[in-house]
Amino acid sequence: MSADIPTQVRRRRTFAIISHPDAGKTTLTEKLLLFSGAIQIAGSVKARKASRHATSDWMEIEKQRGISVASSVMQMEYRDCVINLLDTPGHQDFSEDTYRVLTAVDAALMVIDAANGVEPQTRRLLQVCRARNTPILTFVNKMDREVKEPLDLMDEIERELGMTVVPFTWPVGMGKVFHGVLDLREEQMRVFSAGADRAGGDDEILAGLNNPAYASRFGMQYEQAHGEIQLVREAAPSFDEAEFLAGRQTPMFFGSAVNNFGVREVLDALVDLAPPPAVRPAIQREVAPAEPKFTGVVFKIQANMDPAHRDRIAFVRVASGHFERGMRLKVVRSGKELRPNTVVSFLSQRRELLDEAFAGDIIGIPNHGVLQLGDTLTEGESLQFTGLPFFAPEMFRMVEVADPLKTKQLKAGLQQLGEEGAIQVFRPIAGSVLMLGAVGQLQFEVVAHRLEHEYGCKARISPCRFSIARWVTCDEADGGAKELQRFIDGNSHRMAHDAVNAPTLLVEYAPELRAIENNWPKIKFHALREHA
Ligand code: G4P
Repeated sequence: MSADIPTQVRRRRTFAIISHPDAGKTTLTEKLLLFSGAIQIAGSVKARKASRHATSDWMEIEKQRGISVASSVMQMEYRDCVINLLDTPGHQDFSEDTYRVLTAVDAALMVIDAANGVEPQTRRLLQVCRARNTPILTFVNKMDREVKEPLDLMDEIERELGMTVVPFTWPVGMGKVFHGVLDLREEQMRVFSAGADRAGGDDEILAGLNNPAYASRFGMQYEQAHGEIQLVREAAPSFDEAEFLAGRQTPMFFGSAVNNFGVREVLDALVDLAPPPAVRPAIQREVAPAEPKFTGVVFKIQANMDPAHRDRIAFVRVASGHFERGMRLKVVRSGKELRPNTVVSFLSQRRELLDEAFAGDIIGIPNHGVLQLGDTLTEGESLQFTGLPFFAPEMFRMVEVADPLKTKQLKAGLQQLGEEGAIQVFRPIAGSVLMLGAVGQLQFEVVAHRLEHEYGCKARISPCRFSIARWVTCDEADGGAKELQRFIDGNSHRMAHDAVNAPTLLVEYAPELRAIENNWPKIKFHALREHA
């Protein structure tokens, strides 16, 4: 089959929604799917979330992993574009998975609850996007409620997130007197009407920003909006595509997702503003998305629905070329060949067998441990993509088996869970008790549960004194491996190896770390390790 790769690449938009829980991510996701025609009835995404909530405990969530696999990537077509929406895990409790998903997208949609403004989880997720210069679109949700003043929100986003905000729409009123939004570019007003069943295309549109009818119809809310727009126009810079693409400027939209209001504008903005897949760096060279040969990188591994079978789905972000079912792929790390016939795609939230994919698409490859996080897949070339981050854990626990006869199971289980990225496992140089590291408490609970139910070994997880980890390296110019070994020997009581044998320093307190850093100026201490 002859695929026009450059055309297909230009059609792709791959993004994630970042938000604090309850800002409206699920609602907006559903409306985006609805407006693009990917689903017919509103309520299906929501219903699933509700069923997850109703069970309320995470073990049930885990049991429904199959569902979450299917829903963690959604593909839709809109205006001749193929839009891939990646779900970031929505737990209050954070996990590293969330960070890694953000490495697989080309843009992010930030949803802000207009009553709450910038909230902690949004701030954290945004930091990851900023570190990668990911372009960000902002949707200010829940304008049908009593919320913060739009100027204050704009100011808060700029101050807290360090981005310039460029409003594309501006709200007229809020809560009970929310009348709609003025579209500053199209110079028209979209009049608000409530209702979750509206098609969204049936909004009443009034021409102009200064239409004489506005003052009598929308009263003081219009007067206020008019004044604010004057202020914004004087103070805010105009939209600059290069600044947006560099993640320094964010276009802002106002709406109410639950009322289907303002959603279509966001979908249009994704098509018009968000970039198609770009060049991705690998150690050996840069890879362009329209290159003819297939390349891809594993950014997430998820255990499969049936815990009795240890097969897992590797989520691969296609970086270049044309993927076709049954093609031979090389796992660069191991040199092994893979010929996936049952690759799944995620069209309209159903898992379907996939026939082809292009840069920007996500494919799911079932495997039994052949694929690891960070693996690069190619048609034969030796290539290693960079940029899949492992974060220094912020919480540590010791892990032991309750039954010594199950030591083997514990090791095998931790090895696999480590490869999935569910947890980080450290082997102390001195001592035999393994250590777990996580960025969120929930990770420990999930691991204990899975060790017991999937690997048949009950683990004793107990507190441990460490609270900070740093990967250590030493440049050749500073003494290289020799100096590093000297450091390891001198600190063996607080050194460990991680899953890929990278030497890691574990300390109790920040001042202790500072002292060590001062004493060992030739050693580099890293809070983030990239897969290499
Ligand atoms: P999340 O995925 O970010 O956690 O948020 P989700 O979409 O589940 O929305 C959280 C709550 O906010 C839901 O209410 C949802 O209905 C509500 N919501 C979303 N968008 C809007 C909006 O534009 N206006 C208003 N007023 N509310 C909105 P809930 O009570 O938790 O659930 P439900 O039973 O009402 O569905």
